[in-house]
Amino acid sequence: MVNLLTGMIKRVLPRSLLGRSLLIVVMPLVLLQVVVTIIFYDRHWDTITRRLAGAVAGDVAMIVETMAQTNADQRADWIFPAARQAMNLEAVFIPGLRLENRPDWGRDTEDYDDLADALEERVGHPFVIDETAPGRDVQVRVQLAAGVLAVLVPRKRLFSTTTYIVVMWMVGTALLLIVIATLFMRNQVKPIRRLAAAADSFGKGREVPTFKPEGAAEVRQAAAAFNLMRERLQRYISQRTEMLAGVSHDLRTPLTRMRLQLAMMGHSPEIEELERDLGEMQRMIDGYLAFARGEGGEKPVPSDVTGLLEEVVALARKGGAAIDLHHEESLSALVRPEAFRRCLTNLIDNAVRHGAHVAVRAGRRGDAIELVVDDDGPGIPPEQREEVFKPFVRLDDSRNPETGGGGLGLTIARDVIRSHGGDVVLGESPTGGLRVRLWLPV
Ligand SMILES: Nc1ncnc2c1ncn2[C@@H]1O[C@H](COP(=O)(O)OP(=O)(O)OP(=O)(O)O)[C@@H](O)[C@H]1O
Ligand SMILES: [Mg+2]
Repeated sequence: MVNLLTGMIKRVLPRSLLGRSLLIVVMPLVLLQVVVTIIFYDRHWDTITRRLAGAVAGDVAMIVETMAQTNADQRADWIFPAARQAMNLEAVFIPGLRLENRPDWGRDTEDYDDLADALEERVGHPFVIDETAPGRDVQVRVQLAAGVLAVLVPRKRLFSTTTYIVVMWMVGTALLLIVIATLFMRNQVKPIRRLAAAADSFGKGREVPTFKPEGAAEVRQAAAAFNLMRERLQRYISQRTEMLAGVSHDLRTPLTRMRLQLAMMGHSPEIEELERDLGEMQRMIDGYLAFARGEGGEKPVPSDVTGLLEEVVALARKGGAAIDLHHEESLSALVRPEAFRRCLTNLIDNAVRHGAHVAVRAGRRGDAIELVVDDDGPGIPPEQREEVFKPFVRLDDSRNPETGGGGLGLTIARDVIRSHGGDVVLGESPTGGLRVRLWLPV
């Protein structure tokens, strides 16, 4: 139950930092204003209305009383003019008129309950409150013995208009505050967004220029830490690459020397075996060098992934492979083209080497490009599908160059694709062979 509620609240709340911080600022403000408005209406508004009604009723009672104490001529002479001047009430007397006799005198609308109460209390004659009078006035008709006294009461003598003004002010200032808060908060959130974007593109192996930490202290700290981390990672990667390239390169010279010496030693089964071993070592070192070169220097550029894929497939077909290729129109992404081409070549070469028919599909899945390579070869058992990504791991130990090389193909493929922020996983194809699924964020 509680979970359901928190889930619901979470769904309603804004997800962005800007939205949330605005909510934190605006919610208490709106709450406060609502509470203040309610209290104001409840207390102040009611009291004021009652007092205003009381004052009007008192004035009407005063007119009635004065009329009772004087004769008819004096009404026009001074009572009504005095009422107009001193009380802002427009009074007339209609002799002989009788009001319809009703039990609920003057209580047509709830709006005038206060006035009706006050009139009943102070005037002591039957009356009717008529709000259909023209203009913004209310007419009070009082039944006297000789006729009807009709008094026009301006509405502003009955209701306080300041209430609306106060509410307008409250809403207006709240809106102003929201606008100001939005502007300020946006500036606070901007550095966080930039940091998130930088971390995201760094994760995808893209160029991230060093950016100046700015914004609140914590954000600066995070940005500085990110910069430091990125430098360290870059240093580590380039160190590793340099070392790999150096070792591979330095090993080549003695290897070549050994092969030359072996070639001069004539022929015997032992020597041939040594030659095969040396050949394999050579291939491994070449693989390492290719691996190391792939990481060195190349910069990610917007590339036509379908174009690269078509090239790789065309090259494999030239070697006699049967490959089905299906892809969506023009998939493009920010990649290091040479490294990516090597990755694709390794995967497709593996499939061609182990299967007779190969199917390659590529398409968009959300914000990633997905590539699937299926073959109808023997496949790889599930428990070994992670193992083969390790360097120099080969499942067929025949060391037969026909079925494999140095055992670096998948290692390199995964390394390349992970440095782009994606990944490669192995599975089973519908024909029982291996399925290689690769995805690359764009
Ligand atoms: N499509 C496939 N079907 C069956 N087994 C495969 C397939 N692809 C790779 N393997 C197995 O995984 C092992 C490792 O593959 P990987 O590409 O890393 O090395 P390799 O192909 O042996 O050598 P390299 O690619 O460096 O020339 C292979 O030796 C093979 O046993
Ligand atoms: Mg391979």
